[in-house]
Amino acid sequence: MQYRRLGSSGLHLSELSFGAWVTFGGSVGRGEARELIAAAWDAGINFFDNAETYANGEAERVMGDVIADLRLPRDGYCVSSKVFFGAVDKPRPTQKGLSRKHVHDACHAALKRLRVDYLDLYFCHRPDPDAPIAETVFAMDALIRQGKVLYWGTSEWPADAILDAHAIARAHGLQPPTMEQPQYNLLHRERVEREYTPLYRQYGMGTTTWSPLASGLLTGKYSAGVPADSRMAREGYTWLQRNLQGDEGARRLERARRFVSIARELGVDPAPLAIAWCLRNQDVSTVILGASRVEQLQQNLVAPQLVSRFDPDIWRQIEAATA
Ligand SMILES: NC(=O)c1ccc[n+]([C@@H]2O[C@H](COP(=O)([O-])OP(=O)(O)OC[C@H]3O[C@@H](n4cnc5c(N)ncnc54)[C@H](OP(=O)(O)O)[C@@H]3O)[C@@H](O)[C@H]2O)c1
Repeated sequence: MQYRRLGSSGLHLSELSFGAWVTFGGSVGRGEARELIAAAWDAGINFFDNAETYANGEAERVMGDVIADLRLPRDGYCVSSKVFFGAVDKPRPTQKGLSRKHVHDACHAALKRLRVDYLDLYFCHRPDPDAPIAETVFAMDALIRQGKVLYWGTSEWPADAILDAHAIARAHGLQPPTMEQPQYNLLHRERVEREYTPLYRQYGMGTTTWSPLASGLLTGKYSAGVPADSRMAREGYTWLQRNLQGDEGARRLERARRFVSIARELGVDPAPLAIAWCLRNQDVSTVILGASRVEQLQQNLVAPQLVSRFDPDIWRQIEAATA
């Protein structure tokens, strides 16, 4: 496993990390969750991603229990949470968003569920149009000063809003956001490759990118319909099937099919090849993997070996086929 700095910060994260969305507290039982975290840790992964909203906090509870059970050394791993959506069905006004109150309450709830004294990374899961950015920046800075959070960041914020957060932090001597958590895969490139460009060089921000397989689409598993045991068939996640519908959906499926056929020609599994493509981008600090089974994770962990295996022409061919 290689480690990359989180932007210009001194934190070194494994270039592959592991997240709990859909799986922990949902499709994956505690025993499998334990096997997944153990396999990730054994492979050198040192960052585990979570959020208050994943299974309404249950994903954090399972992760906290498993990490405690495995007795991972607290100084050897990093764990995250995210605040915005809330951790209950139909949250009341103070149970969601980025107000000082919810940022504060959600952090303390995540600390308990994850069974830790501090969060290494804490994200604002989406921008909140109903909370002033300054209030959120002050709230994050306060948590950092209290030692409850080490690095704060954003997820899927427009670049302009992130620049506003930096300006506020600079004006008041507060901690600015260190990282952004955007979607990044062969089918979704614009934000990471264009919109966020000023954030890397001028502000030293890192990225912890999500859905490297576009929720599994880039494995080819959706080419002939939605398999019964896949994410898009799971209760509560069938909305993801909208990505496969209509003209736009048909185009996405076709792009994924072309990618899978190139992987087959190269003699490699599509999943690690898609992840390797993400790793080629040096503005990516860590690619967060998702897996519902240990075999999937093991297959995906091969990705770093593929980065230098193919010459630039092959990668250009892959990008042209998925454009
Ligand atoms: N900040 C945000 O807004 C945000 C949003 C989404 C995700 N995230 C984070 O990013 C993490 C990763 O995102 P993701 O789970 O969407 O990643 P992904 O890699 O796009 O999708 C992972 C899913 O694809 C399937 N899969 C994975 N490897 C496979 C393989 N080798 N062969 C066949 N199927 C395979 C599994 O689902 P099935 O087995 O069920 O098909 C797995 O759960 C999440 O856990 C979460 O921590 C953050």
